[in-house]
Amino acid sequence: MPGKIIVFEGVEGTGKTTIARKLFKYMINKGKKAIFLREPGGTEISEKIRKILLDCKNKNISKKTEFLLYLASRSQLIFEKIRKLLKKNYLIILDRFYLATIVYQGYARGLDIKFIKAINNFVIEDMKPHLTIILDASLDTIYKRIKKRKIINRIDKESVFFHKKVRDGYLKEYKKLKNCYLINTENKTVNQVFEMTLKILNNKKLL
Ligand SMILES: Nc1ncnc2c1ncn2[C@@H]1O[C@H](COP(=O)(O)OP(=O)(O)O)[C@@H](O)[C@H]1O
Ligand SMILES: [Mg+2]
Repeated sequence: MPGKIIVFEGVEGTGKTTIARKLFKYMINKGKKAIFLREPGGTEISEKIRKILLDCKNKNISKKTEFLLYLASRSQLIFEKIRKLLKKNYLIILDRFYLATIVYQGYARGLDIKFIKAINNFVIEDMKPHLTIILDASLDTIYKRIKKRKIINRIDKESVFFHKKVRDGYLKEYKKLKNCYLINTENKTVNQVFEMTLKILNNKKLL
């Protein structure tokens, strides 16, 4: 596959969307063929699934249903966008990808991680990220940033305990992954985090 996949991961409020969008604009300004896609979402069908997943009214959703909906959204994104754009040499910037399912559905909801990994592999096939950047911050900071949001979704509303399990999951998993970097965003401005992101991309020859 000639294109590249760069993924931003991390707990809610760590700055993924902010940094991923900034990187997308930076790449476009440089004249690169780039696209920004979010998970869940990124296609018409996947965005419909996203609505179900993030709707605060859907309190009764089972963890298995939730897991399968995330995978369904991802499967459609791969089929409609990622596979084709990689072939066309695009730099694909993803706001979350398969690691989020391991951490949220595995570490935080308690579903079997081996099983999650198997289904993830079934869905993503050879579309592995070339680089994953995990943004991290303390739970205090995360809460302050989430509070600034205009719209609070079903996952934002989860308990501190849930977000702690997610954060611990990312901190454990990132050590096991190839091409995965962690940026501590605590007390750093958006611009400082962005500069650190560019440094990593430069080292990986992705700029
Ligand atoms: N390094 C940072 N310092 C201070 N505020 C930040 C930083 N990064 C992001 N924010 C702010 O925190 C909020 C959440 O950021 P967002 O990019 O939506 O996080 P995520 O996509 O990881 O949930 C936004 O209001 C954003 O402007
Ligand atoms: Mg976001």
